[in-house]
Amino acid sequence: MDEVGVGPWPGDWPDDPRLDPELLEHGDRRNVVDRYRYWRREAVVEDLDLRRHDFHVAIENWQHDFNIGSVVRTANAFLAREVHVVGRRRWNRRGAMVTDRYQHLRHHDDVESFASWAAAASLPVVGVDNLPGSVPLESTRLPRACVLLLGQEGPGLSPAAREAVSLVVSVAQFGSTRSINAGAAAAVAMHTWVRQHVTGHPH
Ligand SMILES: C[S@@+](CC[C@H](N)C(=O)[O-])C[C@H]1O[C@@H](n2cnc3c(N)ncnc32)[C@H](O)[C@@H]1O
Repeated sequence: MDEVGVGPWPGDWPDDPRLDPELLEHGDRRNVVDRYRYWRREAVVEDLDLRRHDFHVAIENWQHDFNIGSVVRTANAFLAREVHVVGRRRWNRRGAMVTDRYQHLRHHDDVESFASWAAAASLPVVGVDNLPGSVPLESTRLPRACVLLLGQEGPGLSPAAREAVSLVVSVAQFGSTRSINAGAAAAVAMHTWVRQHVTGHPH
């Protein structure tokens, strides 16, 4: 299989403070798009910060939800402003594939502190869950600035989270399963936000 990334920089090194001498010397095999090859991590984050979208994504973490890594990775791909973990601080980083290094992550001990943070930032909290009373994501206009809040495997959005949301959107399902996993639901919700608010293709 072809190796991902690039080898050591051939020839004289470019004079660019964004570039990392370690990577120039040894090559860059990281999980980053070609535009960022050889860039220092801080330089990548600074560049992403210039273009971040107005949506945030949040997920409840009461039982070490294995979906959080996948949510972080997708949030990185769709350029969420921040990812919020509500509940336990620890989560399994494996599914993030190191993308968490380029993403702003914020932890909240409980739904109350998360909700106060969102209110102070004037961000409506949009619940993503197929609860009774939810409206179809496919035909609902998402606010430009908002937080998309996911529940977790098993219980879904907690009672406190249900209190904190201004609206709940559900992803239409057609099969026999009660739900899709939270990582998949987060991806659909974030992509819906992108389709509604971003024009043109980035590359
Ligand atoms: C496995 S589900 C939770 C259980 C689900 N409420 C049930 O009754 O079986 C975990 C999380 O994934 C998200 N999710 C799963 N299916 C969804 C759907 N069809 N629409 C929106 N969110 C969904 C929600 O955030 C939910 O809290």
